Amino acid sequence: MRKNFGAKPWTYPQPVFILATYDENGVPDAMNAAWGGISDDKELTMCISDDKELTMCISAGHKTTANILARKAFTVSMATAHQAVACDYVDIESGNRVANKLEKAGWHTTKSEFVDAPLVDELPMAVECRLVSYDPESCRLVGEIMNVCAEESVLDSEGKIDVEKLAPITFDPVHNVYRKLGEVVGQAFQDGAKLK
Ligand SMILES: Cc1cc2nc3c(=O)[nH]c(=O)nc-3n(C[C@H](O)[C@H](O)[C@H](O)COP(=O)(O)O)c2cc1C
Repeated sequence: MRKNFGAKPWTYPQPVFILATYDENGVPDAMNAAWGGISDDKELTMCISDDKELTMCISAGHKTTANILARKAFTVSMATAHQAVACDYVDIESGNRVANKLEKAGWHTTKSEFVDAPLVDELPMAVECRLVSYDPESCRLVGEIMNVCAEESVLDSEGKIDVEKLAPITFDPVHNVYRKLGEVVGQAFQDGAKLK
């Protein structure tokens, strides 16, 4: 027997992506986006809205949206367990209300080498994107991935990203909490072959 919860924007796992941008004066801003993901080899789709409809969301109201349209670029950092409080702060405050939002979050920024957007120094892994399109009617933002970068402090001995060191978090929309990514339970592209 299944329980029906109605139409909710609930999926597991939901990412905690921190979008960072510059405004027209070069002031950095950041916000959390849980409704986003990869749509192509080099494409990342984000839904920028306060709406609760899954992909039909619109909010030209976010400072981030205005910044992306002005500078045609954004970075997407993985929120981490170490920075969970600051990552939540940038969700509940808007750059439209406070000019020094990142400073209040305790974050510092460095300009991306690849796109006209800031990297958050305190978040060690980021995807750097050039704006492809933003449709205010569907709220669909598409970015082309120009680079992925990670601090050496979160790399393993082979130079790959070490998920344990990075400690990325996911958003649990049922309980409104952030959870740390868990342990390995299988080998991708491999384990299913046992059932072929
Ligand atoms: C867990 C969580 C997930 C969120 N996901 C999204 C999202 O996917 N899209 C969106 O437009 N806003 C989302 N928000 C809201 C923005 O992060 C929030 O409105 C932020 O203050 C906007 O900041 P800005 O105006 O400085 O750009 C989310 C907020 C929280 C707490």
